[in-house]
Parts: sequence; structure tokens; C-alpha cells
Amino acid sequence: MKPKVLVTREVFSETLAYLNSHFDIESNQEDYILEPDALIERARDKDGIICCLTDLIDKRLLAHCPRLKIVANIAVGYNNIDLAACSARSVMVTNTPGVLDESTADLAWALMLSAARRVTEAQSYVDAGLWKGWHMRQLLGVDIHHATLGIFGMGRIGQAIARRALGFSMRVIYHNRTRVDAEIERRLNAAYASKDELLAQADFVVLQLPYTPQTHHFIGAMELDKMKASAILVNSTRGGVVDDAALIAALKAGTIRAAGLDVFENEPQINTGFLELKNVVLLPHIGSSTEVTRRAMAMLAARNAVAGLSGAIPPNLLNPNLFG
Ligand code: GLV
Repeated sequence: MKPKVLVTREVFSETLAYLNSHFDIESNQEDYILEPDALIERARDKDGIICCLTDLIDKRLLAHCPRLKIVANIAVGYNNIDLAACSARSVMVTNTPGVLDESTADLAWALMLSAARRVTEAQSYVDAGLWKGWHMRQLLGVDIHHATLGIFGMGRIGQAIARRALGFSMRVIYHNRTRVDAEIERRLNAAYASKDELLAQADFVVLQLPYTPQTHHFIGAMELDKMKASAILVNSTRGGVVDDAALIAALKAGTIRAAGLDVFENEPQINTGFLELKNVVLLPHIGSSTEVTRRAMAMLAARNAVAGLSGAIPPNLLNPNLFG
């Protein structure tokens, strides 16, 4: 008998075909978000779950899923999954690192460029029929080239963001739990800075930290106060890394100049304070959303599930301790 696997959200036809050749699949191709009870109902008899960041895999779900052996997240971030609880029940957990680095770095740059050059604000101005002619001081922005880029989190995506900065002749500083290799620093022309140094010096503060209890509100009122009044904050990693209420207050007061955001606390019910501001670019969590990358992510999650349920060690296993 084939293992039973739940696919919680819409995936691509080639992913489904591949999964169908290995598993007895139940899938939610109608793509509605499964609330916790509905998710449990569908997951309770499954050996595997292929899920997304909207699916909560917590102790309660695990208690209802005695057969579960693997949870394959279609995302690199996995804060929707209680990893420790999965490990305690010997449930493998996998994510999709690597395949989305470049697309996600591109989107961080899209936010930097849009916030600095007021791209979405300018489009709203044109859309509203307000453009009556050229003016010297019309929608003045700030330069990206030769500015200082500060990156919190210098993993693969942070490094991809830094690499792009070379083309803009930027000065790059970064802060990370551990310093990256000297060779990487040299190649990216990136200098290590303390959290406070980075906040004080960066014209663009870009966040690439995972969301964990330690990074909850990593940027709050105190950190915003330490930033330059001309600085731009970019968050395309996870909501919760920034204290959204504090950011709204800072954007209103001019503590910082602008922000570009792809992620929020309590998505998709974002703090409506953002909607009243002109100096913020708001995107609906599309960091990895290119055709090629989303297909690659779905396929990688499927491969992880196939490996895990056929007795192999999945390539992107997050709890390798299960294998001793
Ligand atoms: C997307 O947000 C991801 O973590 O892959």
C-alpha cells in the first residue's frame, strides 16, 4: 500500500504527478487556507504532510496524527512548525533552502529600490490622474548607489543581497550571529558590524533573519530610534521580526524615512496603520514568487517527502538528530 500524503495547498501539475506516482495523495487544489481543525481532520490518517507557511503544525495536530512520519514545508522558513515537538515524536521536518535565494534577494532589492525612489507612491499619483507636468522637486527620492547597505542575517539570501550591492557601488556592512568567512567578506566587500553600529550607519537596513523567539521584535522602537532619520527599512523575511506598531509610529513621526515590507505580523490581517502611510511599500508576501522558483520549491518539498517515506534521509532534513 502506498503511503498516504496530504498536500495542504495548491501545487503545480508536475509536482502532483510526481507525488501521485509515489503516494496515495489527498490534495487541496482548491487552495483554500485550512484552519487548524480542518487541517487536523485531513491530516489525521496521513503518513506525510506537504505544507506551506500558512499551515500550523503544532503539538495539537501531532497528537491527532499517530501515523505521521514527515512534514515537508514548501518554504525555507519553518516557524509554522513546532520542530521540537516533531522531533519528540520522531516526525521528520524538511524545508526548501537554496532554490529561492536569488529570487528572494531580487525581491528585497525591489523593495529597496521602490522605497528609495518612491515607485509605488509615484504609480498611485499617476493612477489618480494627479500628474499635470514635470516639476523639479517632484517625488524626490534618495540614491541607492554609493549608499551604505546594512544586512541583518548573512546566510545564503543575505549574501545574495550583498552581491547585488557590488553593482550599485554600495558600502556593505552586516551583522550575524557568527561572522562569515573572511573570504566571503572579501568577495562581497562586506564588513562585520555590531547591531548598534549597523543601525547607526546604514542607509538601508535589510532584514534576513529567521523568525524565532530570539528574533521576535528584533526591530522595535528602540532600534528604530537608533537608525538614521534618512534610513529605509526593508523586511522580506518574516513578520514578527519587526514590531509593526512601532514601525508605523516611526514612519509617521519621521524617525526613519521609509520602509519596504513583504511580510507582516498577523498576515494577511495587517495593521491598518500601514495603509494610511505614503512612505511604505507593501507587498503580499511574494518574496519567492517567480514561476521558476515556486515550481522548484514545490518539487523540492515533494522530493523530501519521497525520500523520507521511502526510508532515505531527506536532502533538507531539519532534525537530523532523528537519524542519530
Ligand atoms: C517564504 O517566505 C519562505 O520562507 O520560503
